Amino acid sequence: MIGRRRKESMTSEKHGAVLITGASSGIGLASAMYLAERGYQVVGTSRSMDRLQGLLDEARRRSLPVSGAELDINSDAEVERVVPELAGRHGGIGVLLNNAGYGLWGPMGSLSTRELAAQFETNVFAAHRMTRAVLPAMLERRRGTIINVSSVLGRLATPFNGAYAASKFALEGLSESLRTELWPFGVRVAVIEPGLFRTEFISNQVTAAAAEDEDSVYAPYVRRYRQRSLAMHRKGADPVRVARVIYKIIRSRRPAFRYPVSLEARLGGLGARLLPERLFLYLMGRFTMR
Ligand SMILES: NC(=O)c1ccc[n+]([C@@H]2O[C@H](COP(=O)([O-])OP(=O)(O)OC[C@H]3O[C@@H](n4cnc5c(N)ncnc54)[C@H](OP(=O)(O)O)[C@@H]3O)[C@@H](O)[C@H]2O)c1
Repeated sequence: MIGRRRKESMTSEKHGAVLITGASSGIGLASAMYLAERGYQVVGTSRSMDRLQGLLDEARRRSLPVSGAELDINSDAEVERVVPELAGRHGGIGVLLNNAGYGLWGPMGSLSTRELAAQFETNVFAAHRMTRAVLPAMLERRRGTIINVSSVLGRLATPFNGAYAASKFALEGLSESLRTELWPFGVRVAVIEPGLFRTEFISNQVTAAAAEDEDSVYAPYVRRYRQRSLAMHRKGADPVRVARVIYKIIRSRRPAFRYPVSLEARLGGLGARLLPERLFLYLMGRFTMR
């Protein structure tokens, strides 16, 4: 036990804390537990301490090094205040896992600009805001890891998920640039592209105000696609699979950039990359808009 404790504290010292946004459920929660079980000091954030209670209770019961912080990642003022406090308390942030995010559901032509902007606010701008908050210390130490949770929809866009896909495409572009910019300074950047996982994603999904308008020309397509998408999500995999990949990235000396997780994510990414674009989009239309 003493040996294990010593190993744990060495691991934490070496890497600093792992800061995970959106740790109250799904991939964030699974990653928090998985990494803490392997000796990492984990700090999970949520917009509400109440929602973090499940994670914190379980960690306490098992004496795992997890703490929580209330943080609205959409607020400049909160991020600028809370992140340095957490870094000070935990001897720095060694790993930032930008995980918090949600899906906005609805035909692109029916979304309001405000709905689209809110999608980008959380899935893109907040990840950038969090990155800015941890980056100066990482640059100073010349080490650190930033992992952004994208999606298979960061490589290809399906109908009615256009806002979400656009936000994940943007997150991937931002991450790709960041990866190269930070390369000389020893700060690593990687992107995770999960396929379908069983989390709170569907219950947290936001339906655009006009998305399910029965008079809309899209109505029959939206209904059919929605049913198929819900059925597929119900069969999603255990998010601990994503946590394992995150652990692998953190431990790797030279992590790759993109990590598709699950068969559908791999096949989707390959299809988008290797098939002629016209054929790929034809197949997408044929299988989804019927
Ligand atoms: N599940 C999948 O199949 C799947 C597939 C590909 C990618 N992803 C990505 O994986 C990440 C984690 O999602 P998940 O599947 O684990 O879903 P989840 O269980 O709904 O967890 C999402 C987390 O993000 C936070 N969040 C949600 N909406 C937010 C908002 N408007 N502002 C700030 N925080 C918000 C929530 O934290 P609080 O409410 O506690 O603040 C929640 O803990 C997301 O980036 C998602 O896009 C998921």
